[in-house]
Amino acid sequence: MTSDKKYENPDRNLALELVRATEAAAIRAQPWIGKGDKNAADGAAVDAMRAFLGTVDFAGTIVIGEGEKDAAPMLFNGEQVGTGVGPSVDIAVDPIDGTSLTAAGRQNALSVLAAADRGTMLDASSVFYMNKIVTDADGIGVIDIERPIGDNIRALAKAKGKDVGELRIAVLDRPRHAQLIDDIRAAGAGTRLLLDGDVAGGINAARYGTRIDMCVGIGGSPEGVVTACAIKALGGFIQAKLAPKDDDERQKGIDAGLDVDAVLGADDLVRSDNTFFVATGVTDGGLVAGVKRLGPIIRTESVVLRSRSGTIRRIEADHLAEKWL
Ligand code: FBP
Repeated sequence: MTSDKKYENPDRNLALELVRATEAAAIRAQPWIGKGDKNAADGAAVDAMRAFLGTVDFAGTIVIGEGEKDAAPMLFNGEQVGTGVGPSVDIAVDPIDGTSLTAAGRQNALSVLAAADRGTMLDASSVFYMNKIVTDADGIGVIDIERPIGDNIRALAKAKGKDVGELRIAVLDRPRHAQLIDDIRAAGAGTRLLLDGDVAGGINAARYGTRIDMCVGIGGSPEGVVTACAIKALGGFIQAKLAPKDDDERQKGIDAGLDVDAVLGADDLVRSDNTFFVATGVTDGGLVAGVKRLGPIIRTESVVLRSRSGTIRRIEADHLAEKWL
């Protein structure tokens, strides 16, 4: 399905076009913020994202979507998106990372999309959960997901030239992380407990100048692949291991050709060094501001990351609300 040479120009930043899809998802989700219906919010975001992806010149294949675990609306795996003209790419989507946050009107929900050269993203859809550890580049050669968290925290503190007590570790606030949270505190570091949204948690751990030094623990597998696409552009560190919830799911993963015991680095999660990541704020968060209605306009804030050039762009856009009625 590849074609027209002009679109294979390496200087084309596909993400600058794909950001329209996450903006649209956030705009359509906005009326649902705080309304208590996460499937309605997700459905509005999915429909908007699909419609906008259809206008971009590329041949996209959804390799990793989300929603199955909640029977939520989804851009399904294998779905073809884009006009079919231009580069062939794998797409990972999370039309809203933080559907419950959105429904509750809480902070840190994002609309997220990642792209990479076709055939390079890990299809981990048979195993819903993945254990992850994300830091900035200081973690490279220093962190090992198989070591106790206390050792990793001490090693990172040393690499950063900080006291352990200064480190803040982001973890999803889940019963499964009770021991992990105790271990982090026992090591002397502080926690930043996330209600939801470990994509933003991972990016904030890898990004320069935030208060989070590490994001760790078990979250969604799609979120892990999406985060890896961002980490490649940020120059940070990620390691992951699939976390099947029972023997059946473990077998499903093996049948799908996954090595469920392997330590997965950034290159295992996404082989390409040509990755794109875009995210638009749904609700306010540390990464970007949430979508808001300001009289006749709807304002969105997005980040656009591209690994080949190592650029992080922040895009604030005002959309005439009457065009979105
Ligand atoms: P969704 O809003 O897409 O459902 O994901 C929210 C999220 O918190 C992710 O950021 C995280 O990876 C995953 O859910 C964790 O799953 P669970 O809520 O089952 O612990």
